Amino acid sequence: MNSDVKKYIENNSINPLFLVGDSFEVLRSIPDNTIDCCITSPPYWNKRQYANGGIGLEKDYRKYISSLIAIFMEVYRILKPTGSFWLNIGDSYKNKNLLNIPWRVAIELTDNGWILRNTIIWNKVKGGLDNSTDKLRNTYEPLFHFVKQSKGYYYDIDCIRNSPKSTKVVNGAVVSATGVSGVRYKRKIELSTELTEEQKANAYAELEKILKQVQSGEVSDFRMVIRGAQRTTHSDSEKVSGRAKELHEKGFYFLKYNSKGSKPGDIWDIIPEDTQGRKVHFAPYPEDLCKTPIILTCPPSGIVLDPFVGTGTSCFVAKQFRRKSIGIDIANEYIDIARKRCGCLGNEQSSLPVTED
Ligand SMILES: C[S@@+](CC[C@H](N)C(=O)[O-])C[C@H]1O[C@@H](n2cnc3c(N)ncnc32)[C@H](O)[C@@H]1O
Repeated sequence: MNSDVKKYIENNSINPLFLVGDSFEVLRSIPDNTIDCCITSPPYWNKRQYANGGIGLEKDYRKYISSLIAIFMEVYRILKPTGSFWLNIGDSYKNKNLLNIPWRVAIELTDNGWILRNTIIWNKVKGGLDNSTDKLRNTYEPLFHFVKQSKGYYYDIDCIRNSPKSTKVVNGAVVSATGVSGVRYKRKIELSTELTEEQKANAYAELEKILKQVQSGEVSDFRMVIRGAQRTTHSDSEKVSGRAKELHEKGFYFLKYNSKGSKPGDIWDIIPEDTQGRKVHFAPYPEDLCKTPIILTCPPSGIVLDPFVGTGTSCFVAKQFRRKSIGIDIANEYIDIARKRCGCLGNEQSSLPVTED
């Protein structure tokens, strides 16, 4: 095992550990089940020449993909069973044909045991310059979220929820954030020709109960679905939808919104980093792209890894959120930038406990 890594795992520092070398070789020196969260953005195929060569310069994109897969299977080995792997990877054209490289890589990874939980679309909002007159501008890249096991991976969903909208009072009546006061639902129950008298009485009682929960803040918002008044949300088939069954048996059901707020979706609007004026490296990814993955899937005492760390964005964000991190890059030049950016003079400093924020 790499002795720097061993020392680093044992100490309490949140200063990143940076290692120079070929990722595949360096990863092989890291023991199994060490890392909590890996987030990375490898070089594009056939687009850029980095300071010290490395991946991306292969003649055939298939060779590029197989080299990446070998590295990401090493990541699989060193990731804890509760860990997550976030992969941002761009596409390339060959003879005008968009190669679908991200999806080729993702499919091969899932064929090799990784479980794909989300494909996030990173919408770059503006995208880069594109003078071609026979295709649209390319303005997004995928960010894949993989895990090793289908249940029990670390996922702190509450830390990324959008804060819930609060209830308000309109003309003396409490209404939910989106204006639901219950008046329309009461009218629908009253006019329903599909509910029995007993079902109507039940529906009124349950509606009163949920309105009280809105008033107390226990539920931030809700919708009531009443038989004959709307279609069921998912499917009318009772075989497929438990809600359809509820609708059939009780005559109504509620959709309650989580009082802690809603989950973000899988399209993220983030302006690329190159609009922010760093000149030395070609493709740093934005800090905002790593913030959510790190706080969501790396426990506070965990270790983040970036095997293509470049200028150190992943480690910089990990440190901001007080997580330990290991960054690997083949180019000394970039590691120097990363070290400075993260406030580390050298790896020896990483073994000192850090007290400042
Ligand atoms: C897209 S850049 C990463 C940028 C990084 N996310 C940042 O914010 O600065 C890819 C990096 O991979 C490095 N690289 C290429 N081949 C490598 C290899 N075999 N092992 C380690 N690093 C490699 C390059 O030097 C480059 O810095």
